Formats: sequence, structure tokens, C-alpha cells
Amino acid sequence: MSGCMICGRPVAPFISFGRMPLANGFLGPEEFSTEFFFELKAGFCEPCALVQLVDRVPSERMFHDRYPFFTATSARMVAHFRKLAESVRRDRMLSRDPFVVEIGSNDGTMLETFASAGLRHLGVEPSANVAVEAERRGVRTLRRFFDEETARDIVREHGQADAIAAANCFCHIPDLRSLAAGVALLLKPEGALIFEDPYLGDIVAKASYDQIYDEHASYFSVLSVERWLAPHGLRVVDVEPLPVHGGSMRYVIRKAGAQEPAPEVEAARAAERRMGLDRPETFAGLARRVEASREALRALLRKLKREGRRVVGYGATSKSTTVTNYCGLTPELVEFISDTTPIKQGKFSPGAHIPVRPHGDFQARYPDYALLFAWNHAEEIMEKEQAFGKAGGRWIVYVPEVGLR
Ligand code: TYD
Repeated sequence: MSGCMICGRPVAPFISFGRMPLANGFLGPEEFSTEFFFELKAGFCEPCALVQLVDRVPSERMFHDRYPFFTATSARMVAHFRKLAESVRRDRMLSRDPFVVEIGSNDGTMLETFASAGLRHLGVEPSANVAVEAERRGVRTLRRFFDEETARDIVREHGQADAIAAANCFCHIPDLRSLAAGVALLLKPEGALIFEDPYLGDIVAKASYDQIYDEHASYFSVLSVERWLAPHGLRVVDVEPLPVHGGSMRYVIRKAGAQEPAPEVEAARAAERRMGLDRPETFAGLARRVEASREALRALLRKLKREGRRVVGYGATSKSTTVTNYCGLTPELVEFISDTTPIKQGKFSPGAHIPVRPHGDFQARYPDYALLFAWNHAEEIMEKEQAFGKAGGRWIVYVPEVGLR
């Protein structure tokens, strides 16, 4: 058992999913026999209020030159990041010759706005293939993991940053101490860090257990973020709930004394205490709901199988790896998974080995049921798949509850 990522104390699991492959480890049949597995367990450190993975996978196994996630696969996410870029540019790039850094800049979707405006920017991205895409768009990218040492090197070469942005990235970084120290070094005294990640409050409210997988080392709340950053002289000054990724929270962080926290911060803290996000019983309850969800999904899929219905998965998300493996979904129950990402197509889903096929295969012959693995994009998907419903197709969902739509 490894210690808490904030304080180092031992963390006991409140839920064990069993043996799991890498969530983004899409693979060919020739790799089945050497597939990597680990024990997926989540635990809660009460003093730090942090939900986190108990055993973590080395980062180099997850983020490399074949990382299959590209931000630009969702039109809504592209729009979301353009909006974020505009607000950072308007509110945070106020000094002479300002400088913005994005940690986990992926394919450059967010920084592209700054690059095309000729503003000083730097993306930090360890996954070489997505970094190449960012560079193709003119986004200056440092191919490296972010930590205290990387921060020191950036400051040496470019100076401190007016703004640091990070989306769906801090939850990927297991060394939270080095991350916070790096941010404190890199940020100007009057600068701001804006980061967003899937929100623990949404995971608990929706029992969205599929957010729990190898890449998500921590599951943040306002209470845990504050306890994590305070020793580094960093303060949460604003928070904003976001609908993306199934429910996220954006945190605005500044150096202590730079700005009084907005009333929203205390309101969020109070709401988290009411929800019990600082108490172990909450997570014991979550574990029971997750088990019930698994039984309901299995029962539904077995029933449809007995009735001879065709079920196809929609969206080979990282999240779906937890669902397919934890619920024991096989290609007998889910014929294939439709996905628009070229690098995933023709491969098999991690662990469960369900074939991943292009979206054209879904459209060419609609199944009776589509199991919505990309439930976080439900609105965007329902809008463009109206013909599936008109043809008599139904959606199977499992968040917040197993059911049909
Ligand atoms: P994402 O939402 O990032 O989930 P995760 O973080 O769990 O991987 O991934 C969405 C996946 O779904 C991605 O592989 C692209 C795919 N997708 C489709 O196939 N069709 C769509 O219309 C959308 C929006 C996504």
C-alpha cells in the first residue's frame, strides 16, 4: 500500500475493483498475452479529505508516444477550451509580454488561441504523439512530465508565468507535493493557476465509479485541494462547477494574500461538508451503490442477450475500461464499441477485449441497444444520433442509474 499523496499516511481502500488493465491500453491480439494488469483500489485519507488510488501505475506506462486520447475528438470540448482560453487571455494576461503555461497541453486545443495571437506560451506534455499534433498547430510544447524540476527549468528559460492552466491533468499526477512546489515556483506573485478536473462531489452524487481508473490518481474536492495547496502558500480564491467530463470543478488558485476568496469557495466547502466528502462513511456508502450498479447492468445485459438483442458500446472511453472489466462485459454481451478516434479503431478494449470499430460500422447496421460509455458527451451524441432512435434503437445508461433512454 502506498501512502497518501498529500501527507504520506497509509490509505486503506474503500473499494476494490480487482485486476484491471490500463484504461487507455487499447491493444492488438498479438499483445493479449503480455497485457499489463494491476489491482485497482480507491481509498480515502480523512485528514487530507483526499480520495485517491491506493496502488498507482508508473506514469511512463500511461503517458507515452501512443497515448490515444486527443482533446479535439469532441466538438463540445474544443468549444469549452476556446472559452477558457479567451477568459485567461482577457483576465490574466495583463502584464507586458505576458506568458501562459498549460500543464498537460495534449493536442494544443487550448493553447492554439495564444499561439495564433502571437502570445508567449508553453505547453508541457509528456505524451509525444499528442505533443506532435500540438506542434503541428504552432503550439510550443515541452515534451516532459511537470514537476518541481520542470518548473525550475521553465522559469530559467522563460521566466515566471502570468497564468498556468491545467485541465484533466492534475488528477493524473501522483506526486502532488512536487506538483504544488512546481506551481509555486512557476507562478508570478500576481499570477493565477486555473485548473479543472472531474469533481468528487459529482462522482459521489452520480455513483460514477467509471471515473476511477489508473490515470486518475486523485479525485479532488475543494476541501482536499485547500489542504493540499495551503502548505505551498497557495490559496483557492474561486471555484466554478462545470458540466464537462461528467461533472468537473474549476479551481482558481493564487498566492496567499493576492486575493480574497470569493463567497463561492465557502459555499462549496459547506456543501461538501453536507455531502460528507470529508467523512469515510460517505465512501463506504458509495462502494455499496457501485456494487448494486454492477449487478443491475449485468442483469440487464444478460436479459438482452437471452432475448437475442444486439448491444454495441458507444465511445471507447478510458472510463469504459473500469465498467467492462469490473462488470465482466465480454464480446458476447457487447458486440463491439464504436469510436471516432482512428488510433483506437481496429484494436481491442483493454482487458475485456471487445473490438473497437469506426463509427461507420455503428451507422451501417444499427444495433438494438447502444451502451453509452461516453455518457459525459450524452447531449452531443444524442443530438447527432437522432436517426438511431428513429430506427427504434435505445440507449443503455448506467450513470446515475442503470436504465434505458
Ligand atoms: P472522453 O470523453 O475523453 O472520456 P475518457 O476520458 O473516459 O476517455 O472520451 C470520449 C471517447 O468517445 C473518445 O474515444 C471519442 C469517443 N467519441 C465518439 O466516438 N463519438 C462522439 O460523438 C464523441 C463525443 C466521443
